[in-house]
Amino acid sequence: MVSRSSSLPYVAVASTTIAFLACGGASTTNTDPSSSGSSGSSGSSGSSGSSGSSGSSGDADGGGTIDSGIEFASATVCTSKTMWTRADRGSSSMHPGRACIDCHSGEARAPSFTIAGTVYPTGHEPDDCNGVAGGVTVVVTDAAGKTQSLPVNSVGNFYSTTAITTPFHAKVVRNGVERAMVAGQTTGDCNSCHTEKGTNAAPGRIMAP
Ligand code: HEC
Ligand code: HEC
Repeated sequence: MVSRSSSLPYVAVASTTIAFLACGGASTTNTDPSSSGSSGSSGSSGSSGSSGSSGSSGDADGGGTIDSGIEFASATVCTSKTMWTRADRGSSSMHPGRACIDCHSGEARAPSFTIAGTVYPTGHEPDDCNGVAGGVTVVVTDAAGKTQSLPVNSVGNFYSTTAITTPFHAKVVRNGVERAMVAGQTTGDCNSCHTEKGTNAAPGRIMAP
């Protein structure tokens, strides 16, 4: 009953105890257990946890914005355990994870997308691995203030042929919770940066919130 909701207080108590014991064991001149206890507990355990998680993305919009630093430390996995196996046969479910526009621009029969990519459940998934099975919307707001909401399909792919003015901003939304890209971008070929490991400074895949 108590332990369930009190992990932080529990940690604070533990480190207070450790600080107090360490203090006594070292026989320092500090004879005030309450002051050594509070500096020990307020310092390391409480705040290092939160700065660790907010470290890399630093996009503190508040509200429902997810802070993703920790999840991008995960190993590569194909969470869906299902892959695209039909080579370059045209389909809205084709080649999840690969750079759609880069390939399409050299294929006369392929549609000309302005925006295209794939949303995954984790930060590092291999090419052709199917992504999230729907339920996520990619929201792109261009430099002219025009917004497009693109639902992802059953393999996580999304795409648009609507013209955009660059640079644009993008975020991924699920049930009102979102992950937003801080920087504006000038290419809509999202997977060209959001590769398995991430290129051009991207942290990895576009990850669902
Ligand atoms: C390696 C090349 C390649 C990649 C990568 C690729 N495509 Fe395609 N795509 C094609 C080609 C070629 C066609 C036209 C095929 C045809 O007409 O049979 C096509 C056609 C399509 C079509 C039209 C299908 C139809 O029914 O007419 C859609 C939608 C599509 N691609 C979406 C995507 C998306 C989304 C991505 C990225 C997640 C992607 N493609 C990645 C080569 C590619
Ligand atoms: C030229 C490279 C590039 C392209 C293209 C690009 N991104 Fe990004 N993206 C980044 C970089 C770098 C970051 C990390 C810094 C930031 O947030 O600006 C990022 C971060 C993100 C994040 C936040 C990641 C997280 O969870 O912390 C999302 C969501 C995202 N991008 C979505 C998209 C979408 C959707 C598209 C296409 C419409 C796209 N990106 C195109 C480089 C790119």
